[in-house]
Amino acid sequence: MSIFQVKSVDEIMAESGEKGHKLSKVLGSFDVTMIGIGAIIGAGIFAMVGEAAVGASSGYPAGPALIISFILTAIACGFTALCYAELSAMVPISGSAYTYAYATMGELVAWIIGWDLIIEYAIGNVAVAISWSGYFNDFLNSAFGINIPLWLRLDYRTFIQKGFDLAAVPHIGNIPVIFNFPAVLIVLSLTALLVVGVRKSTRFNDFLVIIKLAVLALFVGVGFYYFNIDNWTPFAPGGWKGIQVGAATIFFAYIGFDAVSTVAEETKNPKRDMPIGIIGSLIICTLVYILVTVALTGMMPFMELKNKIAEPLIAALDYNHAARWIIVVVALGSVVAHTAVLLVFQMGQPRIFFSMSRDGLLPPYFARIHERFKTPHVTTIWTGIVVAVLAAFCNIDEMANLCNIGTLFAFVLVCMGVIVLRVKDPDRPRPFRAPGGFATPVLGILFCLFLMLGLDKITWLRFFVWLVIGLIIYFIYGYKHSRLRTGELVLKRQQGKY
Ligand code: ALA
Repeated sequence: MSIFQVKSVDEIMAESGEKGHKLSKVLGSFDVTMIGIGAIIGAGIFAMVGEAAVGASSGYPAGPALIISFILTAIACGFTALCYAELSAMVPISGSAYTYAYATMGELVAWIIGWDLIIEYAIGNVAVAISWSGYFNDFLNSAFGINIPLWLRLDYRTFIQKGFDLAAVPHIGNIPVIFNFPAVLIVLSLTALLVVGVRKSTRFNDFLVIIKLAVLALFVGVGFYYFNIDNWTPFAPGGWKGIQVGAATIFFAYIGFDAVSTVAEETKNPKRDMPIGIIGSLIICTLVYILVTVALTGMMPFMELKNKIAEPLIAALDYNHAARWIIVVVALGSVVAHTAVLLVFQMGQPRIFFSMSRDGLLPPYFARIHERFKTPHVTTIWTGIVVAVLAAFCNIDEMANLCNIGTLFAFVLVCMGVIVLRVKDPDRPRPFRAPGGFATPVLGILFCLFLMLGLDKITWLRFFVWLVIGLIIYFIYGYKHSRLRTGELVLKRQQGKY
């Protein structure tokens, strides 16, 4: 069979019911919406808005017009979210975009997207874990006056870039010991939680989401109290270009609504719950982001953010001499928000590996379900180890950009999948249909390509290298073992196994 062989939607659905591969259906629409919010609100709103407003590295500040950047990116994500909702209600399988590609564009494209999603989930998590570590230190510092030594909370290159003294660092032989210990610690702790069970973990996620929404509400309330309309002049200091570059930067803040689709198989009524979870979480987060940005840009002249660019919310509170307890609470809220993002992404990645393994594109070892906990424990543990090691030694900006390009590419393929399925299988019941006919997926593709083109060359190069490595692995392993291409699926169907 050809490498462009597609797997029919019926086949995909039937397989998920196979013995030994079944995930338990425990989640409702509230849970999945909370999973979406948990994945979305994190490093983007708490950290990256600083760079977007000031434009320190791009030279194009968005200024208070960052509000417009947020609206633009929300519209771009909105088209894609509608496409995700259509596909995940129709094919509620844990593999998300990977599975949709298998059903629409064939095995090779499915492999490429599965491989690409590793960038979104695992690499995205590396970036968030590194940012978590910075805020964790800020919290310890503001609340208790404790500072973790620099060599224990930075990567080697950031340490050198910031001009810190290598001689002061412990050495093993000639090698300086510099790594991000808090990032490793949080990733491994959440991995352990996820092995124990998705139900317990979503309860924990609900708790984290409520806290972070409350903290952002506090920030907005305080921000409106200090609001001064003069801070909105000039409104768009970098002009249209500043708004556009700001939109590309804060794209990271929106990533996550798609993660909802990775728990489709564990959802009681995915036909209804998937659209609610995906679109609902995106709408709620967009409103929160706009309110936070209005408050932030009204509290101080945006350029004042440049001195504390990685903690813009704290910078705005400091500027207005807000009470100390408010600063401590917001710093803690940021740690909590980051934790929720880590939790959901750490939950999404293993489920994609799991689906790929179930299809024979990765060894069967990765599709194992824990007998007692009913979770894909093997992939959860491996993901945890790889993310922890990368978070220990990598640089945050590179990881965030790589995550952006990988995610945008996945979004493009998902929108294409909607078009292909509507043409090839127009009569299949669609519990949710993205409105606007073909305009919605086409606009989704165009918006995502536009944002991708805004990313720098080195990010494109890294992305390309990653895809080439993936293709080599596919031709060495998946090509030979694919259950679809080796005819195993056909055989099983003939034997009446499903
Ligand atoms: N949207 C997620 C965040 O901002 C990835 O942390």
